[in-house]
Amino acid sequence: MTKINDQAGTRNDALSSSSFSAPRSASASAPGKLILCGEHAVVYNRPAIALPLSQIRAQVTVAAGPPGTGLHLVAPDLDRIWSAAESPADPLCELAHATLLHLGFGAVDVRLTMLSTIPIASGMGSGAAIGAALVRALAAFLGRALDPAEVSALVYASEQRYHGTPSGIDNTVIAYEQAIWFQRPNATIEPITIAAPFTVIIGDTGMRCETRLPVGEVRRRWQADQATYEALFDQVGAVVTRVRDALAVGDFAALGVLLDANQSLLEQLGVSSPELEHLIMAVRNAGALGAKLSGGGWGGVMLALVDESSRERVAEALRQAGATQVLETRVEATLNETG
Ligand code: PMV
Repeated sequence: MTKINDQAGTRNDALSSSSFSAPRSASASAPGKLILCGEHAVVYNRPAIALPLSQIRAQVTVAAGPPGTGLHLVAPDLDRIWSAAESPADPLCELAHATLLHLGFGAVDVRLTMLSTIPIASGMGSGAAIGAALVRALAAFLGRALDPAEVSALVYASEQRYHGTPSGIDNTVIAYEQAIWFQRPNATIEPITIAAPFTVIIGDTGMRCETRLPVGEVRRRWQADQATYEALFDQVGAVVTRVRDALAVGDFAALGVLLDANQSLLEQLGVSSPELEHLIMAVRNAGALGAKLSGGGWGGVMLALVDESSRERVAEALRQAGATQVLETRVEATLNETG
């Protein structure tokens, strides 16, 4: 079973001290994520499987500010600086305050600088990763360690305020940074057994879509015809269970077929798009074992399962088909209990 690293991604530049004294700065990071299967149905209590994308990360550095200046956020990528005093309802300012409250601190004079290589609103968990890095960096700055469950809960509460009904899968996979089986309503998390490593290629449509939009559309459709949509969610849940079995024995041919089946169900749920299907068709023609959209849909990214013989061809096919970004991620095998 994969070990959970409680301190994942934190670094505190403070001189060590048994009692808290303001350090110069502290940094923390959090990974992007990819939903392998089960998105949307996961909002309706079916299981889903998600993978951390450890190679693409958000990073937050907290530095002490002059006394009385309060909390400032800096996003150099967006060329933006803002303060909690001017924008108290800003989601990241609220998350910072919730974190301070959780840690038993009041106001602090700090500057939080955020950097991220995760594309925004693309289905790779950019918002949750920035949130998790911010929570961890503030905690590290204040000389505290938070376990993944606390990080996850703080980020979830923040996402809930701004994204309606998030399932909680994003904050969970990002805070724990391991492949997970996730299921509501109790946010049950189980590690996934992966018998052999495999490679996934991610293609970005370049179209940005806020998750709450397709989630809202599925909600409307479900409210109008619960029997049909509950049946579709059941089928997605069955696919996810079979994906877990395929991963456990390293049957990647079966995994590819299951990813295709999940895509077909996502199309029926109404969250695919012509741009996603264009990339999916291109990778299937180039020999991918299976392909589907990943995340909220209506834009964002798709994923393709490849083997060594199709890896390069699939990446090239995506570039030819107009993907604005092509990323490759290798998913490592988990250690088995005896090994
Ligand atoms: O768009 P993303 O990557 O945040 O994925 C959302 C996944 C959904 O199942 C569509 C919504 C959710 O909250 O789980």
